[in-house]
Amino acid sequence: MATDDHLIIFDTTLRDGEQSPGISLDALEKVEIAEQLAQLNVDYIEAGFPVASQGDFDAVQAIARNVRGPVIAALSRTHLDDVDKCYEALKDAPFFRIHVFISTSPSHMEYMLKMNEAQVIEEVRAGVSRAREHTNDVEFSPQDATRTPLDFMLEVLNEAVKSGATCLNIPDTVGYGIPWDFGALISHIKKEVKGEYIISTHCHNDLGLATANSLAGIQAGARQVEVCVNGIGERAGNAALEEVVMAVKIRPDQFPNINVKVKTDELARTSRLVSRLTGYPVQYNKAIVGRNAFAHESGIHQHGVLEERSTYEIIEADSVGQSGRQIILGKHSGRHAFSDTLTKMGIHVKGDILNSAFTRFKELADRKVQITEADLEAIIAEELGTVVGSEFVLESLEVVGGTVGIPNAKVTIKKDSKIFTASANGNGMIDAALNAVCEATGVGAKLKEFNVSAVTGGIDALGDVVIQAEYNDIRVSGRGVSTDVVEASARAFLNAVNRIVRVEARNEKRDIETGP
Ligand code: KIV
Ligand code: ZN
Repeated sequence: MATDDHLIIFDTTLRDGEQSPGISLDALEKVEIAEQLAQLNVDYIEAGFPVASQGDFDAVQAIARNVRGPVIAALSRTHLDDVDKCYEALKDAPFFRIHVFISTSPSHMEYMLKMNEAQVIEEVRAGVSRAREHTNDVEFSPQDATRTPLDFMLEVLNEAVKSGATCLNIPDTVGYGIPWDFGALISHIKKEVKGEYIISTHCHNDLGLATANSLAGIQAGARQVEVCVNGIGERAGNAALEEVVMAVKIRPDQFPNINVKVKTDELARTSRLVSRLTGYPVQYNKAIVGRNAFAHESGIHQHGVLEERSTYEIIEADSVGQSGRQIILGKHSGRHAFSDTLTKMGIHVKGDILNSAFTRFKELADRKVQITEADLEAIIAEELGTVVGSEFVLESLEVVGGTVGIPNAKVTIKKDSKIFTASANGNGMIDAALNAVCEATGVGAKLKEFNVSAVTGGIDALGDVVIQAEYNDIRVSGRGVSTDVVEASARAFLNAVNRIVRVEARNEKRDIETGP
């Protein structure tokens, strides 16, 4: 329960963050991120929007059933059926919140809802009251609040509180707010809306002001912030969790007596996991979690930091988990040491995933002397994108290329007990390998995004390839790791092909269930 000085961190990476173009996480991946958010010690996890799809419902339910620590929340429109479905997905969590929203700005009401003010007020009353029948933790959001006439918003918020809302969230849906103006809005609402509730911010980053607006909201009395890891989310994203948390922690003079219970030394790991599973790279110079956030290039800066760290750094790398903890596993490490290390790192995988991750670890350890913590995270992230069982698995890859001749690749891929082989040319070795994967699997997916990075430094670093691919309007991400970048690319592409096959099968099943 919030007290005056406790700032609630409401993480919406799995709901608003997942609405970023090209991100599509399955239930297993969402649970893995949610486990890490629990490790980070956020107060709330918004796990999804259950009515949006069966996949979202399943993921919210899996998180509600398995993840312990934070309160689990899910989003719902004001429709009574949506609210009930949201409750169904959440009800197995020990503590849960239903987050009800409706648009309140004139343009949303006219063009999207086709409702007048009286109808919107009635929706708020009905939706919030219904949510309150299921739980006494109900959040209400007037969507597009910063473009909503103030008098109408106050009317809506008063109705929400009367109907049972315990948290009023003020979304800057299109990132239109300016810090001092947004802060003034929060103060005004606090003054004018009577009753017992927590006030919350939800700031989008269209003008690059999401963090600044959230901080202005806190100064004006908000005691919940809605944030996403790495600042992902619709369009330019949401306020970045790591930025808001660290600003509050580093500047107690500006945020006196405000407590945040996030374990900041888990920030970097959380950022890496989210980046790997979503396929969204973190920009090098990203505050707090970017790889350059603690790198000093100029001689003057290097000199200063060597003499006294605080000359050019306001945050200790260790305090945000950026100093690269090394774990030391090699090819002689056994299964027990492997799973023990994962548990110590807070990664909880079992059964088939653990088995195949161990096999991948052994293959890599044979080629690389030491496996680091970051390497292990990358292996697990790749394995999580794989449903063990009826999937295409890369058995072997041979490539020929160079500056002379046409690059060619030959792949052998297994599915169930069938073997598929194919060979194809390309305009480079990676292109040839991906073409061969398309030939062998019969899925002619198109590569849309390609990103390669080294998991750690050093000559034997693992290449981590994250891609996005598209087939029949299905866009998915895929990832692969290997000491060889061509192999990592083929693995990433095959990972995406497997997802496409799964999504197609799910869509077909739904067509059959809903019937002609
Ligand atoms: O940006 C927004 O308005 C939202 C609401 C659903 C809270 O994400
Ligand atoms: Zn949003």
